[in-house]
Amino acid sequence: MKFSYQNTTQILFGQGQISAISQTIPTNSRVLVVYGGGSIKHNGVYDQVAAALSDHQWQEFSGVEPNPTKETLDKAVEIVKCDHIDFILAVGGGSVIDGSKYIAAAAHYDGDGWDILTGQHQVSSATPLGAILTLPATGSESNSGAVITKSETQDKLAFLSPYVQPAFAVMDPDVMKTLPDRQLVNGLVDAWVHVCEQYLTFNHGHMVQDGYAEVLLRNLKQLAEQFDQRDSDVWRENLMWTANQALNGLIGSGVPHDWATHMIGHELTALWHVDHARSLAIVQPSLLRNQIEHKRAKLEKLGTEVFKLDAGEDLANRTIVALEAFYHQLGVATQLTEHNGDKQHAVDNVIEQLEKHGMIKLGENQAITLKESRAILEQAIA
Ligand code: NZQ
Ligand code: ZN
Repeated sequence: MKFSYQNTTQILFGQGQISAISQTIPTNSRVLVVYGGGSIKHNGVYDQVAAALSDHQWQEFSGVEPNPTKETLDKAVEIVKCDHIDFILAVGGGSVIDGSKYIAAAAHYDGDGWDILTGQHQVSSATPLGAILTLPATGSESNSGAVITKSETQDKLAFLSPYVQPAFAVMDPDVMKTLPDRQLVNGLVDAWVHVCEQYLTFNHGHMVQDGYAEVLLRNLKQLAEQFDQRDSDVWRENLMWTANQALNGLIGSGVPHDWATHMIGHELTALWHVDHARSLAIVQPSLLRNQIEHKRAKLEKLGTEVFKLDAGEDLANRTIVALEAFYHQLGVATQLTEHNGDKQHAVDNVIEQLEKHGMIKLGENQAITLKESRAILEQAIA
């Protein structure tokens, strides 16, 4: 085990914490408040932000869409550059926070911001940013990653940079009260798959990472089983904190990672606008079946420690069945139906995109070549 780990984001957790931003954002900053389609205008979050920033100079940029596009975000990059913005406050879910990370990095670059996603430009500075999370799912509020779409070419790519790690993350579970069930379910599923991507690889014996991953998975399973209690403070608090811990870097330190489900899932979102979490539920069961020999030991551990299944030769298979049942119980499909019905064309389309994006050796063993991806998609696409 060998790693370097730090998470510099200050977490401000709990009811009423939005007001704390009046202290955490320097009062001499020129602030750009970035948000999405307007949900924050209907649930009191915008008003709380405005009240907290009453002593700050601030302006706003709205309209960041789910699966944020560079085309929209570039308009905010211009504002940051022209108006000498020196702090960005992201108020929203993963899309708004990721979008703000792109804005922060692209504003410190003279070229096309998309170069950051293709790797042509290495981020070496960015406008400081903070986040007010309104949808627990991605962990973006306290990690250094962002996923951005170029709608012109249907490319959805990720970048990582310590320069876009939020300085703080406000997590007030009360903001979840207006989340539609669909988004709550998405949060459960996305956090679940984040843990799996860092856990369901091969046996390495690292007890802290494995043990904590299992705690997070058991939490998510229990929260799904108690979905009828989603209107309670404790249910909201537990989901918000669990989803954060799933992708804040800790359980992934010093262990192998997979992320193939995410990479293939991103293509489904780019092509057919499938919700991020739902793209993962479509890909993951077929991917696990395809990779069962590599992943057998960890699938068995998941089956025993999380699903409480009995030992036996077919345990890995039964674990995948239990995992599918977990998604189905939440009303989440495990096959793609959003394409126009021509399955072969859909499979070819995804394979072309994966190849274009260099996703030709995915997974912890780099064993998921385009041939394996094709086999996975044959199962995952209806
Ligand atoms: O646009 P608004 O009005 O805010 O509405 C949003 C949006 O329509 C709504 N919403 C958010 N908070 C709400 C609310 N509605 C009512 N009440 C609230 N409190 O929910 C809808 C979905 O929001 P979005 O931000 O798109 O969802 P999510 O948080 O699931 O983010 C998904 C994006 O994050 C990326 C995904 O690829 C996708 O683009 N990811 C980012 C990661 C990261 N940075 O580490 C990792 C993830 O694996 C993921 O790839
Ligand atoms: Zn995800």
